[in-house]
Amino acid sequence: MDNIKSEKIFITNNSVETQRLGEKFSKSLKRGEIIAMYGDLGSGKTTFVQGLAKGLGIKRRMISPTFIIVRSYKLGVRSFYHIDLYRVADEKGIKGLGLEEIMEDPQNIVAIEWAEKMGDLLPKKRWDVRFKYVSEDKRKITIEKFKARNPKQIQMIKIQNSKRFEHLKI
Ligand SMILES: Nc1ncnc2c1ncn2[C@@H]1O[C@H](COP(=O)(O)OP(=O)(O)OP(=O)(O)O)[C@@H](O)[C@H]1O
Ligand SMILES: [Mg+2]
Repeated sequence: MDNIKSEKIFITNNSVETQRLGEKFSKSLKRGEIIAMYGDLGSGKTTFVQGLAKGLGIKRRMISPTFIIVRSYKLGVRSFYHIDLYRVADEKGIKGLGLEEIMEDPQNIVAIEWAEKMGDLLPKKRWDVRFKYVSEDKRKITIEKFKARNPKQIQMIKIQNSKRFEHLKI
């Protein structure tokens, strides 16, 4: 498997800066993309998502989905999903949530807190955003993009391309 990896590191000095980073990051997103977030309690994941949602054009106030694991926000024909797996024990607990369907829908943008709990269910093609507590108001935030190029995807691209040329056949 050939993963092309790129990474950017940011230091924010307060929660407003983290929100702004989320808002700016939202402009890099395409529909169908998944943002996997990792980091301790209070490291800024929800704060980042608040900015992200604002950047996507969601006007509704974002609340931390402490007891509700999956929250969805309408974005025209698209939807933004904010998922918080903190209270989910393991992969088994995740299976019943219907996340695979949500993530497969190319109209959805999905941001997941405590994404490490997804284990193998986490798609390879995703953004990884890691949050580290530096000091009371300082956080280190690392944004990484993975472009999975596995044999199945390459095959799919080949099929799509061959369809594109079908009408040219004599
Ligand atoms: N630079 C910063 N970035 C983000 N949050 C900050 C920063 N400095 C201080 N804070 C504070 O840290 C807390 C971050 O909380 P937040 O809910 O975003 O964390 P979280 O990673 O989502 O935690 P949890 O795992 O409990 O969901 C907030 O109270 C926020 O005001
Ligand atoms: Mg949170």
